[in-house]
Amino acid sequence: MVLISWLKRSWLQALAHATGLLPLAWLIWDHLHGAFIVDPVREITTRTGRTALVLLVLSLACTPIHTLLGLKSVLRVRRGLGLYAFLYVALHFLTFAGLDYRFQWDLLGPAIFDQLYVLPGFAAGLILLVLAITSARGWQKRLGRNWKRLHRLVYLAGILAIVHFLWLVKDTGEPLRYGAIVALLLILRVPRVREAVSNVRR
Ligand code: HEM
Repeated sequence: MVLISWLKRSWLQALAHATGLLPLAWLIWDHLHGAFIVDPVREITTRTGRTALVLLVLSLACTPIHTLLGLKSVLRVRRGLGLYAFLYVALHFLTFAGLDYRFQWDLLGPAIFDQLYVLPGFAAGLILLVLAITSARGWQKRLGRNWKRLHRLVYLAGILAIVHFLWLVKDTGEPLRYGAIVALLLILRVPRVREAVSNVRR
């Protein structure tokens, strides 16, 4: 009964948690059922990277969806989706550093800085780490106005992650589609466009 009334009130939050946790459950399930036989490290890196990107784009979409549709409740899931994106980035990095390079720091440095496609991903990961740490309320108060400025870097993280993806694959169709979505979301955040959209909606 309590669960049903919570679901009625907070269905969007429940959906956001499901979106964040199901890919991890699926990954663990596949691992336990021997789905990753040929190249498990590559498979896990690919899955965690893709999931991180999807969750990042979903969290970027929350504010524009609020502007377009006036749905206030989406703003409440924005932070959670961003933190889930960071969780998958952390798993992605740990797979790369731990499973692929066995945490051998002398090899990891060149692997990150000499392979051009890794560098933008690493930069995006560092930005998301800072944003995850400062997403707590205490940091919001401490940073005041600068908090919003800092958290706009999430768009830069999105762009860097797409460059990382674009650099990796032969078929650029998919990363370019993500790029188009992020570009559209950025346009919708331009104050004039945002105002015009809000006026039309009203
Ligand atoms: C934190 C530092 C990062 C490192 C060291 C890293 C490393 C890698 C590596 C080595 C691959 C290639 C896997 C392979 O095909 O063998 C990869 C793929 C990928 N990464 Fe990252 N990455 C990082 C950050 C990120 C971030 C922040 C995102 C997205 C938010 C991301 C998204 C992806 C995607 C989408 C792929 C391609 C998956 C595919 O081939 O379909 N990565 N990454």
